[in-house]
Amino acid sequence: MANALLLFIACVVSVLLHAAGGATVRRFKWEVGYIYASPDCEEKLVMAINGQFPGPTIRAKAGDTIHLQLKNTLHTEGVVIHWHGIRQHGTPWADGTASISQCAINPEESFLYRFKVDKAGTYFYHGHYGMQRAAGLYGSLIVDVSDGEEEPFQYDGEFNLLLSDWYHTSIYDQMVGLSSRPMKWIGEPQSLLINGRGQTNCSLAASLVPGSSACELTSKDCEPVVLKVLPNKTYRLRIASATSLASLNLAIGNHSMTVVEADGNYVEPFTVDDMDIYSGESYSVLVTTNQKTSSNYWISVGVRGRKPNTQSALAIINYPPNAPSKLPESSPPATPLWNDYARSKSFTYRILARQGAPKPPPNADKRIALLNTQNKMDGYTKWAINNVSLALPATPYLGSMRYHLKNAFDTKKPPESFPSDYDVMRPAKNQNTTQSTNAYVFQFNSTIDVILQNANAIAENVSEIHPWHLHGHDFWVLGYGDGRFQEKDVSTFNLKNPPLRNTVVIFPYGWTALRFIADNPGVWAFHCHIEPHLHMGMGVVFAEGVENVRNVPTEAITCGMTGKMLINNHLP
Ligand code: C2O
Ligand code: CU
Repeated sequence: MANALLLFIACVVSVLLHAAGGATVRRFKWEVGYIYASPDCEEKLVMAINGQFPGPTIRAKAGDTIHLQLKNTLHTEGVVIHWHGIRQHGTPWADGTASISQCAINPEESFLYRFKVDKAGTYFYHGHYGMQRAAGLYGSLIVDVSDGEEEPFQYDGEFNLLLSDWYHTSIYDQMVGLSSRPMKWIGEPQSLLINGRGQTNCSLAASLVPGSSACELTSKDCEPVVLKVLPNKTYRLRIASATSLASLNLAIGNHSMTVVEADGNYVEPFTVDDMDIYSGESYSVLVTTNQKTSSNYWISVGVRGRKPNTQSALAIINYPPNAPSKLPESSPPATPLWNDYARSKSFTYRILARQGAPKPPPNADKRIALLNTQNKMDGYTKWAINNVSLALPATPYLGSMRYHLKNAFDTKKPPESFPSDYDVMRPAKNQNTTQSTNAYVFQFNSTIDVILQNANAIAENVSEIHPWHLHGHDFWVLGYGDGRFQEKDVSTFNLKNPPLRNTVVIFPYGWTALRFIADNPGVWAFHCHIEPHLHMGMGVVFAEGVENVRNVPTEAITCGMTGKMLINNHLP
């Protein structure tokens, strides 16, 4: 009888929970501070969370709310954390962008991030102040489907691979170099990391790769990642790239991969032997362990899109009964040629929305074109968008726009196109640019098309890859093309099954077209995800519906001269 009563109560409780959507509040208490660690066997300072590098993985279910108290225990600088790929509907102040959505959190102070993770997928988080991401401030954020929902594919187990690159010089050294006259470029990274582990100047596969020296794994921190698998199972590999500079390619010896997710959206499955991953992108691939079990296999991650000077990162797929330390029989898969862009394009063009995915509106209300150029400003090297290099204001836009603060940022409208005679195939005739804090303000709920136009950099015959990431939204990727975008290219737009993403690449000398709905009240960064490029001004700021923003925590916006006036004027 007592049991029956208990059962009854349990049922009532579970019904109530379901009535509430079954959603959970997940609470975290984090502290950001530097630690000593040896990500690639050389000891350095690494920006860590609760003493961990990479930071702890957040795991939640779609519909859950995250309550994360972030305390800054760095000694002399502010900090913020951005939740990359989370759209922040209704909580634009929790987006974690210094000067845009919030004030940097001062040393010894705390900030409560509160936001909903509304869509299942593979995401990550990272510092978004100065170049703190490159200091190691990042980790994974994985959202599972909510209870009772199912993924549109099946698998027996999963692994998470968070990719990054690593420099031996401090981010302070890097930032000073980038903003010096003449600029001191950061160069190529010293190592590539998988889940924060890598090796520098040595080869794990030494005995298989002629002429290479074996690694001395001087620290647990740099031991290779081992994925322990069982034969004849299907595994989901979640892969995200938090690199500062490098574009990557990932391949698994003897195993093909079926791509099923990109940036938290399902894609029409397609199978590849290797895949490109640009900074800011995430993917899920399915891998079937159908190879002979007497061997282990390499996962190899190498550099693409820039002349590499960094060795590949390796991880091991471990089939039983082999010891994890047993070297695979064959050499690690070779990374495709760094400048084989035709190959990169053919991979990227295969990414299409899964059947049944949301379709874009058939037309846009507005189209803007953004020309990406490398420029000079008073002897400094900058990146500029329509000849404006992004500078960030002292008071975050979110507060200054919401409360109409005067003189907080440049209110002049930024250019929505670039001169029709600009030759994207050659260095600019006039390389001079200027800085501004201006922002693009869109009509709330309007549909916006953005044409990202690549061009020649300062040097002759150089045009780089730039992965562009939009905060607060997913966008549909309508198409790509080579050379300068022309009106007739509109007819080639894919309106049938364009993939939804939050990051998209522009190829050298090419253009990329995307469409999004400006339906998320707030102020949102849209920028190249290459950390030094953003630092040199390669970004813009979008805003929409800011009037509708509610409940902004005071501490998010009361910094800078004008922001402080909000305190005196008693924030509503
Ligand atoms: Cu992952 Cu604004 O960046
Ligand atoms: Cu860039």
